[in-house]
Amino acid sequence: MKARIGLGIAACAVHCLGHPLGPSNISGEDVILRDVAIIGGGSSGTHAAIRLKDHNQTVVVIERDGELGGHVRTYTANSGIRVNYGVSNFQNYSVVREFFSRFDIPLVQYVQPGDTDVYVDFSTGQPVPNGTLPVPDFTAYLTEVAKYPYLGQSWELLPDPVPEDLLLPFGEFVEKYNLQDVAFTIAQFAIGNGNVFEQTTIYVLKAVDYDYVQGIVYGQGVAPETYDTQSLFNKALVELGSDVLLSSTVYNASRSTAGVELVVKTPTGRKVVKAKKLLVTAPPLVGNLQPLGLDKKETDIFSKFQSHGFYTGLLNNTSLTPGARYYSADPNANATYDVPNLPDLQFIWATKDPDVYWAWYSSPTDVPEEKVKSDIITRFKDLAPGSNPEFIAYANDSPSTVGVSADEIRDGFYNDLLSLQGYKNTWYTGSTWVSDHSAELWNYTEYELLPKLM
Ligand SMILES: Cc1cc2nc3c(=O)[nH]c(=O)nc-3n(C[C@H](O)[C@H](O)[C@H](O)COP(=O)(O)OP(=O)(O)OC[C@H]3O[C@@H](n4cnc5c(N)ncnc54)[C@H](O)[C@@H]3O)c2cc1C
Ligand SMILES: *[C@@H]1O[C@H](CO)[C@@H](O)[C@H](O)[C@H]1NC(C)=O
Ligand SMILES: *[C@@H]1O[C@H](CO)[C@@H](O)[C@H](O)[C@H]1NC(C)=O
Ligand SMILES: *[C@@H]1O[C@H](CO)[C@@H](O)[C@H](O)[C@H]1NC(C)=O
Ligand SMILES: *[C@@H]1O[C@H](CO)[C@@H](O)[C@H](O)[C@H]1NC(C)=O
Ligand SMILES: *[C@@H]1O[C@H](CO)[C@@H](O)[C@H](O)[C@H]1NC(C)=O
Ligand SMILES: *[C@@H]1O[C@H](CO)[C@@H](O)[C@H](O)[C@H]1NC(C)=O
Ligand SMILES: *[C@@H]1O[C@H](CO)[C@@H](O)[C@H](O)[C@H]1NC(C)=O
Ligand SMILES: *[C@@H]1O[C@H](CO)[C@@H](O)[C@H](O)[C@H]1NC(C)=O
Ligand SMILES: *[C@@H]1O[C@H](CO)[C@@H](O)[C@H](O)[C@H]1NC(C)=O
Repeated sequence: MKARIGLGIAACAVHCLGHPLGPSNISGEDVILRDVAIIGGGSSGTHAAIRLKDHNQTVVVIERDGELGGHVRTYTANSGIRVNYGVSNFQNYSVVREFFSRFDIPLVQYVQPGDTDVYVDFSTGQPVPNGTLPVPDFTAYLTEVAKYPYLGQSWELLPDPVPEDLLLPFGEFVEKYNLQDVAFTIAQFAIGNGNVFEQTTIYVLKAVDYDYVQGIVYGQGVAPETYDTQSLFNKALVELGSDVLLSSTVYNASRSTAGVELVVKTPTGRKVVKAKKLLVTAPPLVGNLQPLGLDKKETDIFSKFQSHGFYTGLLNNTSLTPGARYYSADPNANATYDVPNLPDLQFIWATKDPDVYWAWYSSPTDVPEEKVKSDIITRFKDLAPGSNPEFIAYANDSPSTVGVSADEIRDGFYNDLLSLQGYKNTWYTGSTWVSDHSAELWNYTEYELLPKLM
């Protein structure tokens, strides 16, 4: 039996607007009552859902994509080998060990696939002369980074006033502390920050923080034994079952101190979610959160965000050297520390499958898929003339490094942002709120966010 539910939003969607999506008679089983509704089932949303469930909270995850994981992506090659083209390694934190072990996934030390680094002028396809690039030594960089132990944690720990060094363009920070030898490598590690020497230093340091360097440079990182990162999220999906709405987005909402109601568009029709609390893990850009009915306070804060373009893909039939990792280097005197100007393909990694290579492309601003792909194909062909490379997987990982100007940070932007935690029963986690590393996100959610949210 269908009964009209006494829900202002759903009724209004029909009576006020007559919107084509709006049934006047959402059936009883289409109302989902939960303690916490979570928007975004990527790394932080999936982890939060499982941990809330572990605390006997009822949850529902609303995820736009057809699977959980977000920036976690794993492709099954024809060889059967599972190849990551997203999150691959984790800082060895207790939250990481516990979360993987909860799903019986053993961890091993992460060793990057491939065995040879090649530095190539991608505009010519020619290797740059030996000695063009300095040999990186991270000692001095780590000394600087260690001065800011909160980089991998919440913005709450940012001192007031914010240290001026963190607000310099990163190029000036490099000069000030004589970090020229690591500048080229950091530009790769901090991919997704646009042209890295123009980026505000704190964002680069958060991307390449102390524990990240320990992991990637000094071999302290961990990965699932199979290297199949997606397997964790697939197991989480099985466990969450009908508590996950895939290929779904929020269409309308009302949020208040009394609770949250969401109208959600799903492949099986509209559903109404009524929850005590909302946890947003999707990027908090005004365009993305518009259906939540942002008020002026929220809009004023979120509209200050800028972001960058970041794209990744797997290619086959490349004729590249097995095991090679190709880094784009610009030996021209006008290039800062030999780092090519963006947008462009930044580097290519060998993967676990000898036939498959992983391309990393980034840009200060958004780039259409067709241009990203054609730029990448051109670069691959320049590296291996006569080859016929093909995309076998592609992902748009934008918006990347969602942040604000140095002036905004100096003026207390992050205090304003954090004042939104809990406002209208809406809570937040995800890279914009912490840092863009899963271990740090999970640690924040576990120890800072969930105790407050519950
Ligand atoms: C290519 C690549 C490689 C990386 N490698 C590593 C690595 O090795 N180790 C590491 O720690 N980090 C890595 N990162 C960083 C990675 O972004 C973070 O570790 C982590 O995945 C960020 O989690 P998140 O939850 O903030 O975002 P995401 O994982 O992106 O999750 C956000 C989710 O929200 C969904 N969403 C967005 N908007 C909406 C909406 N309106 N409605 C519903 N759902 C929505 C998205 O589909 C997505 O699933 C990598 C990132 C990229 C792009
Ligand atoms: C969303 O719901 C509000 C009432 O909560 C209503 O005013 C508005 O028109 C609705 N928007 C859409 C697009 O249905
Ligand atoms: C109400 O529900 C019935 C049965 O599911 C459906 O046929 C009808 O189109 C619905 N009405 C509206 C306005 O959506
Ligand atoms: C969750 O509920 C179970 C069963 O009632 C109980 O044994 C467990 O202690 C609860 N866990 C928490 C974290 O409250
Ligand atoms: C990639 O190409 C090789 C050689 O052409 C082929 O054997 C393999 O199956 C292809 N793999 C994928 C995932 O397409
Ligand atoms: C991760 O840390 C744990 C606890 O300190 C340690 O036992 C384990 O060996 C580490 N794993 C790797 C791969 O370094
Ligand atoms: C550059 O160095 C590598 C290894 O150190 C060597 O194999 C290669 O031949 C050198 N190339 C040139 C052009 O000197
Ligand atoms: C740098 O110099 C090269 C070669 O002279 C030129 O092609 C390129 O456009 C210059 N780049 C910038 C950013 O000025
Ligand atoms: C692979 O590339 C070669 C040229 O190097 C081309 O002849 C062949 O058709 C390509 N294979 C596929 C499956 O595209
Ligand atoms: C995890 O978060 C807690 C609380 O913020 C913090 O004290 C701790 O240092 C973090 N752990 C790691 C490994 O960063």
